[in-house]
Formats: sequence, C-alpha cells, structure tokens
Amino acid sequence: MNDLDTAVADLATRFRSALEPPARAAAELDPARLRARFDEPMPEDGMAVERVLGELAERCDGGLAGSTGGRFFGFVTGAALPAAAIAEAWTAAVDQNPALCTLGPAAVEVEEVTLGWLAELLGYPSGSGYLTTGATMANLVGLAVARHWAGRRHGVDVREDGIWGVPRLGVYGSEELHLSDFKALRTLGLGASSVRSIPIDERYSMRVEPLVDAIRRDRANGDVDPAIVIAQAGSVNTGASDPLDEIADVCAEHGLWLHIDGAFGALFRLCERTAPLVVGMERADSLACDGHKWLNVPNGCGFVLLRDAELHAEAFAGTAAYLTPGGGANLHELGPEASRSWRGACVWAALKQLGRRGMEELVTRCCALADELAGLVRESPRLELCAPAPTNVVCFRYRPDGMGEGPELDALNERIQVQVAAESEVFHTGTRLAPGFCQRAAIVSWRTTSDDVAALARAVERAGDTLR
Ligand SMILES: Cc1ncc(COP(=O)(O)O)c(C=O)c1O
Repeated sequence: MNDLDTAVADLATRFRSALEPPARAAAELDPARLRARFDEPMPEDGMAVERVLGELAERCDGGLAGSTGGRFFGFVTGAALPAAAIAEAWTAAVDQNPALCTLGPAAVEVEEVTLGWLAELLGYPSGSGYLTTGATMANLVGLAVARHWAGRRHGVDVREDGIWGVPRLGVYGSEELHLSDFKALRTLGLGASSVRSIPIDERYSMRVEPLVDAIRRDRANGDVDPAIVIAQAGSVNTGASDPLDEIADVCAEHGLWLHIDGAFGALFRLCERTAPLVVGMERADSLACDGHKWLNVPNGCGFVLLRDAELHAEAFAGTAAYLTPGGGANLHELGPEASRSWRGACVWAALKQLGRRGMEELVTRCCALADELAGLVRESPRLELCAPAPTNVVCFRYRPDGMGEGPELDALNERIQVQVAAESEVFHTGTRLAPGFCQRAAIVSWRTTSDDVAALARAVERAGDTLR
C-alpha cells in the first residue's frame, strides 16, 4: 500500500467507528487538559500523511461531545445521518466551491435542486433560497433582504447608501426571541434596540394584541417606521411557536415584512400533531431553518428561503471583472459569502437517505418521545413540568416535597444539570423560565429512543435525590 492508501484505510476504519453511537454523552476532559494535549509550537516540518488523522483523533480522545448519540439533549443538536456524514466526507475530497458555476458546476445544481426540495418539504412557496452555515446566518440573510425591502420603501438603496437615509425601523419579536435574531440586527446596523419586545402568553407564544398595539403606537408617534416582524416557529427555550397565521394577517394589514425563525420548528409541519402550530408559515416573506438540527446533517448547515426571488437577488447582487461567469447560477450573488463549502450535498444525501416519509417519521418520533418524557415527568413524584411541552422540547425540574420556588430550588436544579452532565450517561442543558431554573431537553436526533428519554428522567431524579 502506498501512503495515501494507508491514510484512507485508516480514515475508513475511524470513520466507520465514528458512525457508531458514542460511549459517553459528554466529553470527559476539561478544556485545560485538552489544551495541554494540543499546546505545542507550530510544526516546523511536516509529518507523514498517513499519521495525521491518527494523531488528531488520538489527541481528541475524551474531548468529543457525544452529540452523535441518542442521549444528547442539550441545546438543539441533531446527530449526523450516515449518508449525510459520508457525503460530507466525500465533498471535502472533491473540494467544490458553489460560489460560481465555473468553480463547482454540479455543486450549484445540487444546491439549487436541494433548496427546491426543502421548500417543498416545508410547504413554502419559495422563489429562491440560500444555504448558510446555520440558522444564525439564515436569519441574517433573511433580515438583510428585509432591510433592503424596507429601504426601497423609503427610496433608499441600502446596498449603496447604507441605512443612513432610512428612518429608524421598528422590528417586533416576542420576549422569547432568539439571540441570533438580535445578532443579525446588530450586524445589519439596525441595532438590537430596534426590537419591540412583545409579551408572550401562557404557552410562551407571542401575543397578537400587544403586537398590533406596538405597531400602531410606533406609527402614531412617527419616530419609528414599523417594518419587520420576526416570528418564531419553535422557540429555543420551550419549542413554542408564535401564532404565525394571525401574525401574517397583521403583517399584511399593516404592511410589514414577516421573517420566521424556524431553526428547528419549521419542521413541525412534518408531524401531524404539531403541524397546526405552524399554519401560516408559508406566508412568510423569509423563512430561516437549520440543517444541523432536525435534518440531522453535520454541523455547519442551515438555509433561508425567500418568497421574492428578485428582491433576494437584488439584495446581494454584485460581481467583479475577475469573476468570469461560466453560465448557470452564481450563488455568491445570493448571500454574503464568496467561496464556501459545498454544504448542500449533505442535505441532498440526508433527503435521499430518508425521503419525505423518513423525514416525517423522524420528526413525528421525536415529538412522540418528547411527549413520553413529559409523561415520565408528570408521573414522577419529584419531577414537574415548567412549561407546556407540545412539540419536541421539555422543560422540567426536580422538586423535593415541601421545597418552594426560589433561589434554593434554582440552585439545586443548576447543580443537578451539572451533575448529570458530569456522569455523562446522558447530556442535557438548562434554561431559565418564569418558574425558575429548569432542566431542558430538546429531541431532534435520529438516534433517540424511549430508553434514552427514560434514562434522562432517571438521571435527573437520581442526581436530585443525591444532591437535595
Ligand atoms: C430559534 C433558533 N434560532 C436560531 C438558532 C441559531 O442556530 P445556529 O446555532 O444553527 O446558528 C437556534 C439555535 O438553537 C434556534 O433555536
């Protein structure tokens, strides 16, 4: 065997074993020990190709999160489907650049077809779309097009003149609006303080009356131009969706852009029980969603869909003499990046592996498992739900008999989360809701089973019994 054959054979062995569920749900090693393993001067001389991956993998041993398993409930984290991971590995080797047709002709076609499939899957009448690194960037692109649209209403071309000639824009989102939407507004020069924070109801969904009041108030005052509503299909804390259809009515009546952050909740549409929660999603002007959450593709993939293809193209169009076109689409003109990885291939592979039916089954199963977990919480004398759990997220806490709400209960639950993570049989994260600090599990992994959610409920009870 030559060196490359040896390197690839080693890759195949390691890759195959990485496709098995991980032994632990969380990393064993702390950052200091990991740093010590890697902390060395920049190498002066190179090493043999067949030894590089081995060295990387061995040094990472004990330091990898178990996010490819079924027991990783933290944040909103999908596991890579085998076909998606394999396709991603292959795309690294063929190294195409979908920025320009000439740099990746097949890559461009695959991405365009895949975006069409995604729009169809979500029932969204997309004019165009763009694959991003995740929902944060998908929100940024959607809101950049919204900003362009808002500028045009005032006769300002924000691409050329920036936002200086545009009146201060009013943006409306619920109290549960995701950090990434604020980041996008900051990056776009609209500012986080442009957001009017709209109260939520007992289901953690945006209330529509105060939304209308805020728009009317801003319009009457005249110092802010009501421009954009950011609604959520699936809020990160509880998995609640805003009333999208009613919000779309408000936007239509008052002339606002509707952006939907559907990082994971856009896929509620695929489960019969949760689909009614996202009725109206198809009315959005822009819809952001993730790939690396519920589509279970490797990290670094999200997408945005836009209703108005012309407006989308206008917002990012731009070329240069050196960017010799070669026929076909030039995807760099649809978003902020030029060169980038061929991220659509792993989505194409995931959709090929599962098909529409498989995707529906995956989302339906995850929502059923969340319901099962909520059932275990309700049955337990020491656990209680902290918020309704109608979708794929469950927020609950350990509460010993007689312990009232307050700092003591919050501190106990914070310690429980840390303890369960340290034991590493399961991994989940926490959040803070109106009742206080709670344990939070988001279920989006294709690997999660009933045993896994039961293991989480048991682990929280066990840690609570020990720490109380
Ligand atoms: C509602 C929502 N929007 C945006 C994001 C950001 O996604 P990403 O980490 O892929 O950028 C998340 C992540 O959990 C989310 O839940």
